[in-house]
Amino acid sequence: MWLKSFAVANTITGAALASPALFQKQSGLGAFIEKESALAQQGILNNIGADGTLVQGAASGIVVASPSKSNPNYFYTWTRDAGLTMMAEIERLAAGTNSSLESLIQEYVDSQVKQQVVSNPSGTLSNGSGLGEPKFEVNITAFTGSWGRPQRDGPALRASALIAYGNYLIAHDKKSLAKTNLWPLIRNDLSYVGQYWNESTFDLWEEVNGSSFFTAAVQHKSLVEGAAFAAALGVACTGCSVAPQILCHLQEYWNGTAIISNTPTNGRSGIDANSVISSIHTFDPAAACDDVTFQPCSARALSNHKVYVDSFRLLYAVNQGRHAGQAVAVGRYPEDVYQGGNPWYLTSLAAAEQLFDALYQWDQQGGINITQLSAPFFSDLVPNATVGAYAKSSREYTTLAQAVRAYADGFIAVVQQYTPGDGGLAEQFSRSTGDPVSAIDLTWSYAAFLTAVARRSGSVPDTWGSSSATSVPGQCSAATVPGSYATPTIGSW
Ligand SMILES: *[C@@H]1O[C@H](CO)[C@@H](O)[C@H](O)[C@H]1NC(C)=O
Ligand SMILES: *[C@@H]1O[C@H](CO)[C@@H](O)[C@H](O)[C@H]1NC(C)=O
Ligand SMILES: *[C@@H]1O[C@H](CO)[C@@H](O)[C@H](O)[C@H]1NC(C)=O
Ligand SMILES: *[C@@H]1O[C@H](CO)[C@@H](O)[C@H](O)[C@H]1NC(C)=O
Ligand SMILES: *[C@@H]1O[C@H](CO)[C@@H](O)[C@H](O)[C@H]1NC(C)=O
Ligand SMILES: *[C@@H]1O[C@H](CO)[C@@H](O)[C@H](O)[C@H]1NC(C)=O
Ligand SMILES: *[C@@H]1O[C@H](CO)[C@@H](O)[C@H](O)[C@H]1NC(C)=O
Ligand SMILES: *[C@@H]1O[C@H](CO)[C@@H](O)[C@H](O)[C@H]1NC(C)=O
Repeated sequence: MWLKSFAVANTITGAALASPALFQKQSGLGAFIEKESALAQQGILNNIGADGTLVQGAASGIVVASPSKSNPNYFYTWTRDAGLTMMAEIERLAAGTNSSLESLIQEYVDSQVKQQVVSNPSGTLSNGSGLGEPKFEVNITAFTGSWGRPQRDGPALRASALIAYGNYLIAHDKKSLAKTNLWPLIRNDLSYVGQYWNESTFDLWEEVNGSSFFTAAVQHKSLVEGAAFAAALGVACTGCSVAPQILCHLQEYWNGTAIISNTPTNGRSGIDANSVISSIHTFDPAAACDDVTFQPCSARALSNHKVYVDSFRLLYAVNQGRHAGQAVAVGRYPEDVYQGGNPWYLTSLAAAEQLFDALYQWDQQGGINITQLSAPFFSDLVPNATVGAYAKSSREYTTLAQAVRAYADGFIAVVQQYTPGDGGLAEQFSRSTGDPVSAIDLTWSYAAFLTAVARRSGSVPDTWGSSSATSVPGQCSAATVPGSYATPTIGSW
């Protein structure tokens, strides 16, 4: 999905101006969130086989990216989108939202047992290469058309989702089930990360062949939590030992102000939602505001958030009238032209989610530190904000936290404004009119909605142990570990 097309880029000239009054629809935000949450959850279920009402023909447990079969055709399952979506569902299960979700999650696991062994244009399972294939047909056969492949974030994201479910099983006295039914899949995926992390990959937007911050960030997380998970099961993790090398590599994307998400930059600024989406998916509720892992509340991630958001302020007509410190509609990267190069729901939601994550972390850490690096972010929101340490008990903390929360809510309000009456979330909304654009009912848009509003209400995932993984080697190395791969066979549930 989102493979580069050469549609003519929209310009902001002649675009309709939205009324400034519409920008402040926050009064109804709570009601919108409640209603849209139910629709988003149903939107996800509609897109999962075999019973999803919009995806007839999809195999059991297969997460289809969108029911859209033409312009664009997203009627496939992507390992990335499925992993992120099931991660959101597993989080809901663990939060006690709906225990009947467990059978859906088990169907996903069963489907991946089949998917991992499918030989495809990226390769086979025998040496791991086939695990990097980005997408499959919905009946779990190989997609053989030309595509941006491999995409090496998929195995890491699937491993993280399965580890989250595994930790849930362990917490519910079902460790043996985690070992028999999840570990065979997780072992293959972690092996893949340890073996291939230093080879070129297509990025999460399927356009740049090189190195991607998102890919490296989620790979690092998967190996850190994978090592702890393996230890809990009493098994060995092949590949997990290279986590510090990936962390070292991750530092190479930081330019002093922002994350330059891709190498090569392909002539772009490097400003990319890739970075913000990384921050929310490597968020650790137990972490300090750590720069090295780019935690949501870190000075680096906040500086990057401002650079990222500001790059869209003047670009999209729908943002006219929204000033510095006010939320705007944001897209993938400013140079984007795909389907007109528009704001996306899932990126606007990610901009909110990072801030809700940061609020959670400040609350846990007992204060907000404003540094030279994060000061520009804060002073947009609180003009007199100055460098300093503000304890949770201080008046300044309250002012800052309230301002960040209002700013975060503003991004949800942007999504509210451009969500059609039936609650359907497409991939994009027009930069000039705000009308939905591109694939309808994008599964990832719905998952992004659910996680953003979960964070808003203080619901967070488990720690992934990031605080044990903040030591960056003095010198980076390209060390890899040969993987060990086996056809996954699992028992019944
Ligand atoms: C719980 O999840 C199941 C699907 O697994 C769904 O059919 C049902 O509607 C959900 N219930 C609620 C209250 O969300
Ligand atoms: C993996 O095996 C395939 C043959 O199945 C081969 O073409 C490919 O070069 C191998 N890749 C690596 C990285 O060893
Ligand atoms: C799987 O789906 C593809 C694409 O629709 C189709 O070409 C293929 O025949 C199907 N294979 C099986 C075994 O059903
Ligand atoms: C491989 O690792 C080295 C050392 O961190 C790094 O400089 C290089 O960019 C990495 N290459 C890829 C493709 O990840
Ligand atoms: C991606 O880049 C690598 C390293 O330069 C190269 O070997 C590979 O052929 C490229 N893949 C594609 C599809 O261009
Ligand atoms: C980092 O990159 C951003 C985006 O391209 C740019 O605006 C900024 O000036 C750069 N900062 C430094 C210190 O190079
Ligand atoms: C603020 O800085 C102090 C001193 O470096 C540190 O102990 C504290 O953990 C920091 N708090 C936050 C929320 O970053
Ligand atoms: C900024 O001004 C507000 C309103 O006067 C005040 O409450 C707050 O403590 C000041 N400082 C900071 C860092 O917010």
